[in-house]
Amino acid sequence: PVQRRGYHEKVLDHYNNPRNVGSFKKGDQDVGTGLVGAPACGDVMKLQIRVNKDSGKIDDVVFKTFGCGSAIASSSYLTELVRGMTLEEAGKIKNTDVAKELCLPPVKLHCSMLAEDAIKSAISDYHKKNPNVRATDLSGT
Ligand code: FES
Ligand code: FES
Repeated sequence: PVQRRGYHEKVLDHYNNPRNVGSFKKGDQDVGTGLVGAPACGDVMKLQIRVNKDSGKIDDVVFKTFGCGSAIASSSYLTELVRGMTLEEAGKIKNTDVAKELCLPPVKLHCSMLAEDAIKSAISDYHKKNPNVRATDLSGT
């Protein structure tokens, strides 16, 4: 694949073939929803995680992004990254992890920031809905 308009081929791959596009019912107890926007450009990302209560791990994850190629690629890559992680692990993901993998240029860093914000917001939504799971998670059991 060729690079077009300076996009790295990894971005193009995720953009052309995004992983895990979709949505879960917001009301589901096991689902955490993150909906965030990038003030710099007005792009919007919705990311949802489904958490397994017993393992405390992210069983399933979907996204919908209204935004640029880098934002779509960032969310697509993020869904691959967080699947199977505990909430604690997923909460530690930095936008630079995403940017590095996708070789985003500096002007596109805020697109990967959207992905970091989205997973953090999905996790906190899940915790809000499931205060008991949070206690377990934080004590490291
Ligand atoms: Fe939003 Fe890139 S500025 S699409
Ligand atoms: Fe705004 Fe990518 S999220 S340009």
